Amino acid sequence: MGKERLKGLNALITGASRGIGRAIALKYADEGADLFLAATKRENLENVATEISSLGRQVFTYELDVSDRKQAVQMVDQAILDLGRIDILINNAGVYKPARFVDYSPEDFDRIIQVNLYGAFHVLQLVVRNMIKEGTGSVINIASTAGKWGSMNQSAYNTSKHGLVGLTRCVALETAAAGLRVNAICPGFVETDLLNELKTHAEINGMSENEFRELAKSRVPMRRFMKSEEIADLAIFLGSDESSGMTGQSLLIDGGMVLV
Ligand SMILES: NC(=O)c1ccc[n+]([C@@H]2O[C@H](COP(=O)([O-])OP(=O)(O)OC[C@H]3O[C@@H](n4cnc5c(N)ncnc54)[C@H](OP(=O)(O)O)[C@@H]3O)[C@@H](O)[C@H]2O)c1
Repeated sequence: MGKERLKGLNALITGASRGIGRAIALKYADEGADLFLAATKRENLENVATEISSLGRQVFTYELDVSDRKQAVQMVDQAILDLGRIDILINNAGVYKPARFVDYSPEDFDRIIQVNLYGAFHVLQLVVRNMIKEGTGSVINIASTAGKWGSMNQSAYNTSKHGLVGLTRCVALETAAAGLRVNAICPGFVETDLLNELKTHAEINGMSENEFRELAKSRVPMRRFMKSEEIADLAIFLGSDESSGMTGQSLLIDGGMVLV
């Protein structure tokens, strides 16, 4: 059992069916939050919801594509109906597809921007309007180290995450006086399904997937990928009153990659 640092709070988490979003959902439930969980596919979401119910928390699930404004409006309306109020928003849904910039198809580039940036924008704007009425709320956008610097062969992803870091700063500035806090988490490599795409990086570089993984790890001073639970621990801090003086920040959690 956690320390109930989120007791009495309600959180909406997108991309909660797998990886980082799932880990945040489970840790949030353990800390006493009630949850509204969203993803594109219901099956994995229901598995997470079953685990959370066993912790004694209230949990609702919702299937949508966050890049579709109409679906985002319906989801946020439903979340407010189910939870009554949204205290914490975790904008986590995201996709990743590496390719050389010169080869990037406009359709693939657009899809990554639509999900990672516009998807976050839609949910953020709709939830923030409600939080302003309540006079309180904490938003956590899951960005990336890719929002802080350039990376080889993932121009669309880095563009989307730079946009999300910029959006975090602007919305934080416009909502601070209303009692809201808006921060971002910028993870380095985290061991989730998303890293299956490292095989594409490997192909581009003429390596095996394992060779590319070892190369990637060798570039992390801690010599390992992060765990989803480590990202979730930071999300607890940012969601709770422990970070009550912080807004507009984009916090790196990257095993020290920023140092090299
Ligand atoms: N893993 C890393 O190394 C890493 C590093 C830095 C930042 N991040 C960021 O962390 C976030 C979570 O990544 P992850 O590694 O946990 O990825 P993941 O395991 O691939 O999970 C992605 C989640 O996003 C959901 N999702 C994808 N597209 C969606 C859409 N259009 N609408 C609604 N939900 C959608 C997926 O739902 P379904 O299960 O229904 O498909 C899934 O729940 C992403 O924003 C990612 O960019 C990851």
